[in-house]
Amino acid sequence: MNNKIGRREFVLTGAAAGLSATAISTVQAAAPAVHTGASKPVVVSSANGFTMKNGGKLNCVETAFDRMAKGEDVLDALIAGVNIVELDPEDASVGYGGRPNADGVVQLDSCCMHGPKKQAGGVAAIEGVRTPSLVAKAVMEFTDHHLIVGQGATEFARSLGFKIEDDLNTENSRRMWLDWKRRIDPDHYLDPKLRVAAGHEAGLEMVTEGLIGEDEYYGTINCNGVNHKGDVCGVTTTSGLSWKIPGRAGDSPVLGAGLYVDGDYGAAGSTGRGEANLFGLCSFVVVEELRRGKSPLDAGMEALRRIQRNTVEKRLLNSRALPGFNVSFYVINKAGDYAGVAMYSHNDERRFAVCTENGAELAKVEALLEGSAAS
Ligand code: GLY
Repeated sequence: MNNKIGRREFVLTGAAAGLSATAISTVQAAAPAVHTGASKPVVVSSANGFTMKNGGKLNCVETAFDRMAKGEDVLDALIAGVNIVELDPEDASVGYGGRPNADGVVQLDSCCMHGPKKQAGGVAAIEGVRTPSLVAKAVMEFTDHHLIVGQGATEFARSLGFKIEDDLNTENSRRMWLDWKRRIDPDHYLDPKLRVAAGHEAGLEMVTEGLIGEDEYYGTINCNGVNHKGDVCGVTTTSGLSWKIPGRAGDSPVLGAGLYVDGDYGAAGSTGRGEANLFGLCSFVVVEELRRGKSPLDAGMEALRRIQRNTVEKRLLNSRALPGFNVSFYVINKAGDYAGVAMYSHNDERRFAVCTENGAELAKVEALLEGSAAS
């Protein structure tokens, strides 16, 4: 038996000695771990925040960390980081060159949250703007709203002077969309249900054939950071599910789903199958677990367990009756502890990006389940 006892457990045990079980749980519920004092500055993101540089010298997490260290507002620093990925045509899951919807139109989702200011903004299914994260921030700064969608989002961006382009496809994103389209039986377009099933199967087939990466299918970047003062912020931005039904919004633009920040406790955001995360508002779940005193790793695992429990439809299960998809969370607390977790690590191959005072690296993602989503 492990006789070691953590400081927090010790404090709770000591304080609660002599109280009834009910009283103890009341003490625990009423005494969340608030971090006071200096924080260890850190920026975490999905792995594309390390690999994409858009032809420049720095990646997303390095850029965000550098700016944060120079005293820039944490959210501004994080958005400058994800802008690199949004603008990079090589990233086929975010911003310019992201995967288009079933009609071949690139529709983008994003949201951001500012911990200290307790402000948030988001856009969904916006067209023509390469950097939806900046429009999400404009929703936060210039409106009384938290989410603007579709044509309204595009017009909102236009009214603020954002450049609206006719088409955000690149040669590659258009070629892959045409390949996907070719695989769909045109007869199925008469039946929306069959069309969705056929579209999903064709997409997975293309992942299996290695034409597109698994991460690109639901691809996204989430980036969260905390500075030495303990200011916590986060941003998520994506082109969403590849070849989605036009107008489909996933988890990324929805507060509590693709991103949640509580300035007193921490931040979490996600990549992967948006519907699974949206159903349980799991970034909120993660931050709520941080508030209850869990570590970033344990908090992330709790959200993954919830997703697993909620996945009961046969079509969503693999041959082991486990979730047939991946979802990842990138988690930081106010103290600067962090973790990257996923439903599957695919034989330890999954990584997430992290930047601290020691520089940027790809760190190992901890998985809830062994093996892979596919089997
Ligand atoms: N997580 C990205 C999406 O499902 O749209």
